[in-house]
Amino acid sequence: MTVLLELRHLDKSFSVSGGLFGGEQKVHAVNDVSLVLEERCTLGLVGESGCGKSSLSRLIMRLSPSDSGQILFKGQDITALSGRALRAVRRDMAMVFQNPYGSLNPRMRVSELIAAPLVIHGIGSYQERSVRVRQLLDAVGLPGDAAGKFPHEFSGGQRQRIAIARALALKPSLIICDEAVSALDVSVQAQILNLLADLQAEFSLTYLFISHNLSVVEHVSDRVAVMRGGRIVESGSVDEIFNVPKQEYTRTLLAAVPRIGVTRQQPSAGKGDAS
Ligand SMILES: Nc1ncnc2c1ncn2[C@@H]1O[C@H](COP(=O)(O)OP(=O)(O)O)[C@@H](O)[C@H]1O
Ligand SMILES: [Mg+2]
Repeated sequence: MTVLLELRHLDKSFSVSGGLFGGEQKVHAVNDVSLVLEERCTLGLVGESGCGKSSLSRLIMRLSPSDSGQILFKGQDITALSGRALRAVRRDMAMVFQNPYGSLNPRMRVSELIAAPLVIHGIGSYQERSVRVRQLLDAVGLPGDAAGKFPHEFSGGQRQRIAIARALALKPSLIICDEAVSALDVSVQAQILNLLADLQAEFSLTYLFISHNLSVVEHVSDRVAVMRGGRIVESGSVDEIFNVPKQEYTRTLLAAVPRIGVTRQQPSAGKGDAS
């Protein structure tokens, strides 16, 4: 197995003003996080709201600078990259967010939305980009005539397919899904999760799959890391985390959600099975 992404002792704090006495407070959003993400695998990152998941993803994407620690991507230390070298790495990573309503500009047609990363990176002629948009629409299960429409003409699940098509545009190796299905109905969630699994096989994708919902993570992940208060408190294979959780916190998270278990084989059938 080849390691695609490795995080070593990553740290990030925010100073926030406010509180009762208006003083400066420090939030240690990411606290000494070390993780390994293997190529073509999915690492589920799970934890309660506010535990630091999105902050960690922003550090990986180099959208926000880390205070200390290292980020290695394809063996290269990208922690301090800038300029052209950073742009090259960013081309190889993409994000899908929770809210496709917010992340898709309502005034842009689907063709422009999906082609935007290609335009930004100066890739292809108009003709070539149009062909690529059709390919991407097909890959995410949307009809070709979706290209000329606007986001509001689609359902929530379809909009998330558009966001996924855009994430795929630059043929990235890593896709970070940050609560990507959290806003969707359970049945639509399952469709999008199945699509993500198909795309992973087809395009050799590696996923960091972030969710506060353990049952969603269980369905898609090979390995799971549990985050609490900025730290990774437990990590292991899906079976280890779900069947023999070591931390009380993980057991609490498990108890909080019904398990959907859509297609994954469950060795402990019957235990906590709500499907
Ligand atoms: N830009 C920021 N400025 C100040 N505090 C922040 C910022 N971003 C995140 N935080 C704080 O860091 C902590 C982790 O937030 P976040 O990474 O969004 O958690 P999660 O994605 O797990 O819900 C929270 O306490 C949040 O308020
Ligand atoms: Mg978040």
